[in-house]
Amino acid sequence: MISATAPGKVILLGEHAVVYGRPAIAVPVWQAVATAEVAASGAGCTLVARDLGQQWRLAEAGDDQPLALVARLALTALGLPPDPDWTITLHSTIPIASGLGSGAALSTALVRAIFARAGRDAPPAQVSAIVYESERIYHGTPSGIDNTVIAYGAPIWFVKGQPPAPFRPPQPFTLVIAHTGIASPTKTTVAAVRAAWQAAPARYEARFDAVAALVTAARGAIQRGDWPLLGMLMDENQALLEQLDVSSPVLERLIDVARGAGALGAKLSGGGRGGNLIALVQTAAAETVAAALRAGGAATVLVTTVA
Ligand code: MEV
Repeated sequence: MISATAPGKVILLGEHAVVYGRPAIAVPVWQAVATAEVAASGAGCTLVARDLGQQWRLAEAGDDQPLALVARLALTALGLPPDPDWTITLHSTIPIASGLGSGAALSTALVRAIFARAGRDAPPAQVSAIVYESERIYHGTPSGIDNTVIAYGAPIWFVKGQPPAPFRPPQPFTLVIAHTGIASPTKTTVAAVRAAWQAAPARYEARFDAVAALVTAARGAIQRGDWPLLGMLMDENQALLEQLDVSSPVLERLIDVARGAGALGAKLSGGGRGGNLIALVQTAAAETVAAALRAGGAATVLVTTVA
């Protein structure tokens, strides 16, 4: 049995504006992972999505099925037959439609498992390019940041259309990630921002530029280990996300809870209108902030160290 994994992710700053060519920073979350296992079978290729209780025969699934598309692209890239005698079982601890990149992580684990089964290395750039094709089905017009951070498994500075710049922060920092309990597909919020941008392009471009400026400032703050400044920039990013109309009362209430419990800054992360918020915390305060978010009604809370 061959298996491969991929992490979840959060966007630290810059979501939505990144779709319009502005920079964003994303980090992997290893507390929630997707796994793909390949076992020999006698009857063509079957993909089994254990958590969804669904399975597909690869030979019969269309290219509108993201996992089937990814499997097919990986097999083609490797020059393998289109329907090998494999059962590929997929499993994930990443909540679906939460902004943690569940779809991209499953696809990434799947590609890696196929490459591993073929005895081949899976270079992050190639994995990311294959997974991007499935992101287009999940997300409509994705920037590519989710598949990139997940394939590289490292914090990244990302600008659409440019090679990603993975980096290691000189000092680790701690995030608390809290799920609102409200599923919010990224596709929906990305489409809503697009419609609003089309209706008022100058206003939205100015907001995207403001996001770009603070993402750039955040890169400097991370390099200097200036966590109070990074927290402040996250708060400013949240204010701009509210102006982009992708926040929600539940997100804002939980963000206030995190700030009130001592977070240095907090914002929604990913598509918004539900899904996750993230809070930057001093490591010693992580449990206090996490407990406050749980008491405040967050559905799940994770603490992760970005290193
Ligand atoms: C989703 O994780 C981030 C968004 O900016 C969409 C994208 O970049 O494709 C909301």
